[in-house]
Amino acid sequence: MKKSFFLILILFVCAQFSAARTIAHKRAERMSVGMNISYLDNWWNGTKAKIYGDFAKTSEAAKREKMFADIARAGFKTVRIPINFGAWANYEKPYKWENQEGLKLADSFVKWASDNKLNAIIDLHHVEFDGSVKGAAATERVVWLWREIAERYKNTDPEKVFFELRNEPHDIKADEWRRQAEEIIKAIRKIAPNHTLIVGFHDWNSRQALIESEPFKDSNIIYTFHYYDPFLFTHQGATWSNKGLAEMKNIPFPWKETFSAKAPQNVDDTCVVGLINTYEKDSQEAKMSADLKTAKDWSEKHKVPVFIGEFGSFTRYAAEADRCRHAETVYKIFGKLKIPNAWWEWDGGFNMFKKGATEIADCMRKAVDSFEAQK
Ligand code: BGC
Repeated sequence: MKKSFFLILILFVCAQFSAARTIAHKRAERMSVGMNISYLDNWWNGTKAKIYGDFAKTSEAAKREKMFADIARAGFKTVRIPINFGAWANYEKPYKWENQEGLKLADSFVKWASDNKLNAIIDLHHVEFDGSVKGAAATERVVWLWREIAERYKNTDPEKVFFELRNEPHDIKADEWRRQAEEIIKAIRKIAPNHTLIVGFHDWNSRQALIESEPFKDSNIIYTFHYYDPFLFTHQGATWSNKGLAEMKNIPFPWKETFSAKAPQNVDDTCVVGLINTYEKDSQEAKMSADLKTAKDWSEKHKVPVFIGEFGSFTRYAAEADRCRHAETVYKIFGKLKIPNAWWEWDGGFNMFKKGATEIADCMRKAVDSFEAQK
């Protein structure tokens, strides 16, 4: 009697546990460590008169086939492929594709990921062109784009291919983005019912936006946020971000006694001043870990998986030893919290390579390996 009671109890507990683990949880776990591929997002390389639609060249893309093999060989399990599909279609209804070549490039990238047994995230990146193209991110247009993308990739393996709705929605209110995301989800589900979707929230996919939001009804979603903290370190030298960051250099990680950084005189943007003032605290492992735990707590509370779609540091001025210390700190925390992730990015300004080479620096290798070691 006693024995069968315990058996039933164990079965009941197991059933509860597996019920809480959705297909999205299982697929998220398999993502493990990932890498972003930068290239099909670089719309600014296109011609303004052609509304950037010619930004990616077939001949240059073909040279990138080997890159997928290199990424797989380096032990990454997932590639996030940021693609500005939006640059290849017109801006007024009826929408239509204007650059079939671009679409073929995207197909090649997805195929090369699959040839190398990598999970592939098809990420709709920069669809709003940072506000420079009117109507580019209108809900009707983004939904149209997704209907087309879902049709194009619906026959890919849903265990390996993921659809990410929109990278870093910004200049859009929380509820507006939520409504747009709901429309996209509805449209994709009619076409690709089994693919796992990746969805982040407003305010550039920030962690804060995630923890202040509620999950969607669809249970096959992995939630994403980006983690570039401490921003003063990861974006020192960056010309595309907050004013004053471009002038920041030699910021150590973590903070040390000799740290001294001054915002340039002409910077009225208080953000950089704030980042300098709080750097000592912001670069402590304890603070970073506590922040990231809030996202993990959110995921546990709502019984949904989370994934860090971007993190990394800009190579321009940061010293290799500091970048490696930062990477190792972050990978260790992700490992402890079991959060799958994708480094930003393989061979552009945030790469992990030894200076002047295309081989991962030894201390970066150690940093990546610390993810698995913590689990
Ligand atoms: C943007 C890149 C940028 C990176 C780091 C990405 O989401 O697409 O252009 O380099 O964030 O700031």
